[in-house]
Amino acid sequence: MTKLSLIIKNAKQLLTLQSDKKGPRIGEEMQHLGIIEHGAVAIDKAIIVDVGKTDEILNKYTSENIIDANGKIVMPGFVDPHTHPIFVQTRENELEMRIKGKSYKEISQSGGGIRSSINAVRKASLEELVTLAEKRINKMLQQGTTTMEAKSGYGLSTDSEIKMLRAIEILNEKSDMDIVPTFLGAHEFPEEYKDNKDKYIRILVDEMLPEVKRQGLSKYCDIFCESYVYNIDQSRYILGKAKEMGFRIRMHADELEPTGGAELSAEIGAITADHLGATSDKGIQAMKRAGVVPILLPGTTFSLGLDHYARARDMINAGLAVTLATDYNPGSCNCDSMQFIISLACIQMRMLPAEAIAASTINGAYSLELADKIGSIEKTKQADIVIMNIPSYQYIPYHLGSNCVDMVIKKGKTVFRNDNNLELITRVQE
Ligand code: NIG
Ligand code: FE
Repeated sequence: MTKLSLIIKNAKQLLTLQSDKKGPRIGEEMQHLGIIEHGAVAIDKAIIVDVGKTDEILNKYTSENIIDANGKIVMPGFVDPHTHPIFVQTRENELEMRIKGKSYKEISQSGGGIRSSINAVRKASLEELVTLAEKRINKMLQQGTTTMEAKSGYGLSTDSEIKMLRAIEILNEKSDMDIVPTFLGAHEFPEEYKDNKDKYIRILVDEMLPEVKRQGLSKYCDIFCESYVYNIDQSRYILGKAKEMGFRIRMHADELEPTGGAELSAEIGAITADHLGATSDKGIQAMKRAGVVPILLPGTTFSLGLDHYARARDMINAGLAVTLATDYNPGSCNCDSMQFIISLACIQMRMLPAEAIAASTINGAYSLELADKIGSIEKTKQADIVIMNIPSYQYIPYHLGSNCVDMVIKKGKTVFRNDNNLELITRVQE
């Protein structure tokens, strides 16, 4: 018997997300979660060493630390590949303005929106940014997210963008969450350059990108490509320069209007194009040809009160590696729960529960180019595992509004145990 640091046994369904085929899940593959009934996971330190039926695993391995999943669902931690968690003030006033009939664009153009988050971030110390975001990130971890991406983009000056990226770097070291940084200096034009956009673009390209590169603070460059923010030509220019400097590209594309962002993501060879609420058929086909990963953010469409959700079904049918994320931010979508995003993806975009789970785990891992380490429960991968106190995986989209996580295991270590959850859910099917 081999002695290990941790065994998880008796999962009613162990969602391994294993597949023989390399690459993200596409088309029909998204429906296969690699389920093992009465499953168990054998873990040594941070790494998964074996996966199988509980009796098989217990015949081969022993441990002083055995978690009895006791008929619950065991699955990979959620991967949330699009968030903006570094900010100072929340903007709930904008939700009320939207309810009264103002659009996101109108609010942005009348002094609200992204620009209204800039001053406070510029004034905040690095420590303040870290303290504020740490609480948010812990809450995400407690809801089952074990790896996330985090963007800068509320500083819009070289110093304050660097400060945001440093905050992300510190949080990545300090917290149990793995955090992948993305530089988003092209999130808006700051107030002082709103009538001299070319000047800001010069600062971005000549100063910010080289400095981010020099300090090794992010391998990704993102942009808010929308006709009233960074239009197609400006986006093509900035992303082209970023690529020349060796950045890999992520994009906010076609969020509100069919700007041609999806087509540009294909032309430029972006890793991901995100939002895509207004993407055309041509855009979908171009992304397929270029292998761009679409990251869909239904929380934002919901929070903005819009009805044009991204066309997830058409994208799955076209063979795109559909991925989901929260877009957690202070303005358009203050959602920190991948569980809720899965509900929206299923109810509003008609994704099947299994497809939405693949889009929130293994495909998220591919979108962050980390699928060799995370996103599934397989031998040699990192032991980032969530135990859900629910009777079946379909319960995730079905249940709304509270946290079904029972336990979060990050790199083989229990980092959250939800004591409240235990008595709350009636296990109807047993
Ligand atoms: O992805 N669209 C641009 N950026 C964010 C919103 C940020 C904000 O409103 O503060 C988004 O929705
Ligand atoms: Fe965003």
